[in-house]
Amino acid sequence: MSEQMQRIGVLTSGGDAPGMNAAIRAVVRSCIYYKKEPVAIYRGYEGLIAGDFEDIDARSVSNIIQRGGTILKSSRSKEFMNPEGRQKAFDNLKNARIDGLITIGGNGTFTGAKIFYEEFKFPVIGIPATIDNDIAGTDYTIGYDTACNKVIDAIDSIKDTASSHNRLFFIEVMGRHSGFIALRTAIAAGVEAVMIPEQEISIEGLMKIIDKGGRNKKSSTIVVVAEGCRTGSATEIAKKVDEKYPEYDTKVTVLGHLQRGGTPSCTDRELASRMGVAAVEGLMMDKTCDMVGVLWHHVTYTPLKEVLNMDKLIDLDVFRINEILSI
Ligand code: F6P
Repeated sequence: MSEQMQRIGVLTSGGDAPGMNAAIRAVVRSCIYYKKEPVAIYRGYEGLIAGDFEDIDARSVSNIIQRGGTILKSSRSKEFMNPEGRQKAFDNLKNARIDGLITIGGNGTFTGAKIFYEEFKFPVIGIPATIDNDIAGTDYTIGYDTACNKVIDAIDSIKDTASSHNRLFFIEVMGRHSGFIALRTAIAAGVEAVMIPEQEISIEGLMKIIDKGGRNKKSSTIVVVAEGCRTGSATEIAKKVDEKYPEYDTKVTVLGHLQRGGTPSCTDRELASRMGVAAVEGLMMDKTCDMVGVLWHHVTYTPLKEVLNMDKLIDLDVFRINEILSI
């Protein structure tokens, strides 16, 4: 166990995710449990560059486990992409006598953390938090489960109205480069079709799936579209369908940022709590540039370099399952 590791900074960066507060709480309380000093860094890498730091204690994180968003605020920092910005960040950490850094965020956050470690050999541990779940080295990222629950709640409501009018609904969910939210919620909400960036479906291919529904006397049709879908956004796809198949009464709902807010689920709170403890313990074990993950229920540490070089594979068998279940 490292005696050098006394003061530990924690920040949240990139898109916020429900459960980030639970992770912050776990980091702060683990620090105190192990007699370390936790330091809050506000506004992600922007605050790191500006020296927006505050010493905090166990009570500073009371009653936040159930809150969405992040009490530390977040940002997508352009300045941290430049060597000058990172130099300022390093100087601030040194001046504040901080020995290690815990960054809670997604791919962009970890890319910055890895470069920062390579330049300054400053110990850093990542905690994966993004609703997109597009990070290798962990089965789930913090926020993904809550976002999926928001999505299925919304689809359940839309189904009521869709079936009353026999409509074809396109529901766009988040996932800039990945279809994890779309695929999981498609199964869980029982929809007719799903469109994701990893598996292209043409409009004609989609209509074949939908027509099958028509033949089976379905009262409504729901198509989940991941925002990164290469065939187009939900609005663009609906427009193409309208042009080619005017007999359909199409509607579009873009769920947008409501997927990212709200009370974190039990799964996300538990995951965040385990990862927060593991991140502090990782720094104490002299891990220097790793990401904490939970794989097959076990806490793991994977070098950030590997995490960033791996694609998290999506399970395309879900399409087959959906085909069986959406008859
Ligand atoms: O955090 C991930 C994510 O929610 C993506 O699903 C989405 O594409 C993006 O962030 C939106 O980012 P912003 O809130 O900065 O527009």
